[in-house]
Amino acid sequence: MREKVTIIGAGNVGATTAHWLMARNTCDVVLVDVVEGIPQGKALDLYEATPVAGASVKVVGEQDYAATAGSSVVVVTAGFARKPGMSRDDLLNMNNDVVTQVVKKAVAVSPDAIFIVVTNPVDVMTYVTWKASGLPAERVMGMAGVLDSARFRTFLAMELGVSPKDVVAFVMGGHGDQMVPLTRYSSVGGIPVESLISKERLDAIVKRTRTGGGEIVNLLKSGSAYFAPGASSAEMVEAVLGDQKRLLPVIAHLNGEYGEKDVYVGVPALIGRGGVEKIFEIEFTKEEAEAFRNSVQAVREPLSVLGF
Ligand code: APR
Repeated sequence: MREKVTIIGAGNVGATTAHWLMARNTCDVVLVDVVEGIPQGKALDLYEATPVAGASVKVVGEQDYAATAGSSVVVVTAGFARKPGMSRDDLLNMNNDVVTQVVKKAVAVSPDAIFIVVTNPVDVMTYVTWKASGLPAERVMGMAGVLDSARFRTFLAMELGVSPKDVVAFVMGGHGDQMVPLTRYSSVGGIPVESLISKERLDAIVKRTRTGGGEIVNLLKSGSAYFAPGASSAEMVEAVLGDQKRLLPVIAHLNGEYGEKDVYVGVPALIGRGGVEKIFEIEFTKEEAEAFRNSVQAVREPLSVLGF
C-alpha cells in the first residue's frame, strides 16, 4: 500500500511540496486548505500531471480532515504572511491560532504521523505544533535548516563555479536573521571552503544566506519563496518515509543538548521513520557558541509572548 502524506495549507509552499512528492512518485498526497476549491483545484491539476510525470501516486484536495486519516507524515504550511500594518506579534498570534487548530484536527485522525512544520515563524510554530499535538517531541520537527543550507550551498557553488551537488554546508540555530551558518563545517568535494574562499567573500556569502528569504521577497514584491522551501520540505518527508537515516539540519526539540532545554531550534539530526532519531552535538568556537545562544534567545522571546 502506498503511504499517505497530508499537506495542510495548499498555498505556494504546500502545493510546491506536493509537486515534488508527486513528480518523484514518493507517496499519495492530500492537500488541505480552508479556502474552498483551492486544494481541490491544485490537487486535480497535480493529479493530471501524473501521466506525464510517469507517477503512480494519487493527489487529492479536501477541506475535511477525514480524508487525511492514517497519514504517515503531516506537513504544516497553513498560515498567514505578514501584511502592512501588522506587527510581528499580530502575525505570531494569528499563526499560533491557525497552527494549533489544524494540528489538533490532523493528529486526531493520524495519531501515528510525523509532523513537519513550515509555517513561520517556524521555530516557534514547531513548538506550538508539539504542544497542540501532544506527540512525543521526536515526532515533531520543523523545516528551516535544509532550506537555509541549500541557499548557503547554492551561493558557495556560485562563488566557485562548481556544482551545488558537491557542496556540503551547514547551518544551525533559528531560521532567518538569527541563523548560524558554520563555514568551518562546510566543504566542496571534501575541501574546506575556508581554504578555497577568502574570509571577506565568505562573510558576504554568510550574510546573503542569512537574508536569503528576504532577497526573494524583495524580488517578488508580493509573496515569498516557495520552490526551494517546497523541495526542502519534500526532502524531509522522503527522509522519514524511506527511513533514510539522513543527517539533516532540522528544527528539533532540545532537552539539554547544547545546554538548552524546552525549545525547538535548528540542529543537525538523524532523520528516519521515528522522526528525529538523534541529535548530533558539535563543538563550537566561542563566537559560534555565542551566535547559537543569541539565536536560541531570539526563539524564546516569541515563545514567551505566546505564554510558553
Ligand atoms: N487551515 C488550512 N489552511 C489554512 C488555514 C487554516 N486554518 N489558514 C490559512 N490557510 C491556508 C491559506 O488559505 C493559504 O492557502 O494556508 C495557505 C498559505 O499559503 P500562502 O499564503 O501561499 O503562503 P506560502 O507561501 O505557501 O507560505 C506558507 O510557509 O514558508 C512559510 O512563511 C511561510 O508561513 C508561511 C508558510
